[in-house]
Amino acid sequence: MSVQPFFSNFSGKRVQLGVCGSVAACKSPELLRLFLSAGCSVGVTLTSAAQQFVRPLLFEALGAAPAYGGMWPGESAAPADVFGHLEPAQNADVFCIAPATANTIGKLANGIADDMLSAQALAFKGPLVLAPAMNPRLWEAEATRENWEKLKRRGCVCLEPGLGSMACGEEGQGRLPAPYEICMRTLRAVAPQDLAGKSVLVTLGPTREMWDGVRFWSNPSSGMMGACLAAAAWLRGAEVTAVAGPCDVHLPEGVRVLQVRSAREMFDAAMVLWPSADIGCLTAAVADFRPIPVGREKYKKDQAADGRLSVEFEINADILRTMGENKRKGQVLIGFAAETSNLLENAKRKLAGKNCDMLAANIVGVPESGFDSETNRILLLDRTGREESWPVLPKSEAAWRIWDHVSLLST
Ligand code: CTP
Repeated sequence: MSVQPFFSNFSGKRVQLGVCGSVAACKSPELLRLFLSAGCSVGVTLTSAAQQFVRPLLFEALGAAPAYGGMWPGESAAPADVFGHLEPAQNADVFCIAPATANTIGKLANGIADDMLSAQALAFKGPLVLAPAMNPRLWEAEATRENWEKLKRRGCVCLEPGLGSMACGEEGQGRLPAPYEICMRTLRAVAPQDLAGKSVLVTLGPTREMWDGVRFWSNPSSGMMGACLAAAAWLRGAEVTAVAGPCDVHLPEGVRVLQVRSAREMFDAAMVLWPSADIGCLTAAVADFRPIPVGREKYKKDQAADGRLSVEFEINADILRTMGENKRKGQVLIGFAAETSNLLENAKRKLAGKNCDMLAANIVGVPESGFDSETNRILLLDRTGREESWPVLPKSEAAWRIWDHVSLLST
């Protein structure tokens, strides 16, 4: 199953979620759940059209507080406070409208504030994230195009709707982006932007070294640690390229992903990217050795004499070491070390030997740390001589702390 990096450290941040009248409103509760899982508090505002599909009570029951509907006394879910139309402007850090319909997009673009959602959005000065969903004809209409461009120029975070089949059976552009993407773009709008302007290269996952037409040499790396580092760097404003070996991770769309298979392909990709990167973070479990291939055909059992098989290996180039040797002034290089024993000693040797600025070492082969685990217990060393032993942490939290540490190193 595909793993998606996710972060739960957004407590203290408040999201106002606007919901408009579209079939896709049925996906807004899932988005609310994601914001709450990230640690945010959430208020919700439903237009009267949205309430034809979903009720404010559903959002309240799921943890939104409050859920606004109409603006005037007597209307459904009208606020107790007469200044409800100003409340998100006072309390929310980000306003996310998902789904956003052509009608609401038109109102936002033109300063119309004739219902609770449009009035709250007009009064709100913080980042506005828009995730449209509508029939492709409405999306392509000249008025919608002009309104959309206007909102982009104004600096709104505008997610393009997806392609595919609509509820009405038509094909085209108009599907609500995935709730995970909407959530990540919204979190990025409130995350610290300490890596803004930085170009970050992350290697992740295992490599796969082919031996015959069907067999390969590899390791059980899930790619999760690297995925968390790539996603965290992107949330914190960096432009991120992930060079990923074969693994099933799903990164936010804002992260550029280059899929590779072998150590040699990973090496080639990293060498092209490193000269223009500011930070390299090498989490990949690169196969140190590759079997010398016996050809493209499947090797047959009866080819093995006496029922025994010897496979010869040759060494792969060390990507981290080569990047360390070619590091220019100002570049920051972060390595990882997977060890089964002598953690500190091996980590110190790798930090210095590979010319890293920081090294995160962990013991592999134990349940709470290393390959294919959701948590990690890291020993962090850096070039200034600092040594920190972290407790067992979810990989997402460890990744966040690693970037905190990079910010400390750069200051
Ligand atoms: N690494 C790399 N290229 C390789 C081997 C390792 O870039 N061919 C990187 C890893 O991504 C990691 C670091 O080097 O950031 C350390 O990897 P590790 O497997 O712990 O150590 P090795 O240097 O391979 O040494 P050993 O296997 O002897 O412990």
